[in-house]
Amino acid sequence: MSTLPQALQDRIAHTLEVLRRAAGEDAPVAFANSLGAEDMVLTDLIYRHVPDVEDFTLDTGRLPAETYDLLEDVRVRYGRAPRIYFPRAETLEEYISSHGPNAFYNSVELRKSCCAIRKIEPLRRALRGRKAWVTGLRREQSVTRHELAVREWDEGNGLFKINPLADWSEADVWAYIRAHEVPYNKLHDKHYPSIGCAPCTRAVTQGEDVRAGRWWWELPESKECGLHIRSAAGAGA
Ligand code: ADX
Ligand code: SF4
Repeated sequence: MSTLPQALQDRIAHTLEVLRRAAGEDAPVAFANSLGAEDMVLTDLIYRHVPDVEDFTLDTGRLPAETYDLLEDVRVRYGRAPRIYFPRAETLEEYISSHGPNAFYNSVELRKSCCAIRKIEPLRRALRGRKAWVTGLRREQSVTRHELAVREWDEGNGLFKINPLADWSEADVWAYIRAHEVPYNKLHDKHYPSIGCAPCTRAVTQGEDVRAGRWWWELPESKECGLHIRSAAGAGA
């Protein structure tokens, strides 16, 4: 770990400060853990250094097999794993009965309602009673994330949102994972920089944007599932 460049060590120290402050001032706080590369950095930092921060995963029911494998690796490695939230069975049954299992390919509207049922509603339940939530969002990830602050007011969900990796680069994330031998999703080795549900994620080719493989049939501007709607009231940190 001391092999990491000083600039990254400073960034890690700042990230830990942000997490410790959140665990103190913003309790109860929860980390939304997708088990993506960024979130594995946060998993390692939180589980080893700031264990008071609880974490959860939204299991949409359509995650790739590799993500479930990683969930198991995490349990073995740390003796801890995120709490799992599922979509409401009745709502999902109705949606699939009316529109079919792969309706997300038919229109942005149907894609967004699938995300609403499988991610947004369970997220609301996971955040209930919390003062803040922690995410692995980074500014560099997409055009929709360039204005991201480390701490911002999340108007849609009515609590603070803390993005401790906002100013980390992709190289920083991977340097941390390698140095600390953090488990990660095997799909990352197959050119999947960003991983969501299996039917809505594919590999990217060289030079393509890191999120090009997410909802690849849609335009970049619509490529958010609603977990992260931008609000104007960023509070900086
Ligand atoms: S998404 O909006 O396109 O799906 P992305 O995969 O980039 O989001 O992840 C951004 C952040 O959203 C993650 O770092 C994590 O905090 C949260 N997140 C995304 N998917 C999940 C999930 N399935 N469970 C928990 N948190 C998630
Ligand atoms: Fe549904 Fe795809 Fe959204 Fe997953 S990413 S909730 S499968 S539309």
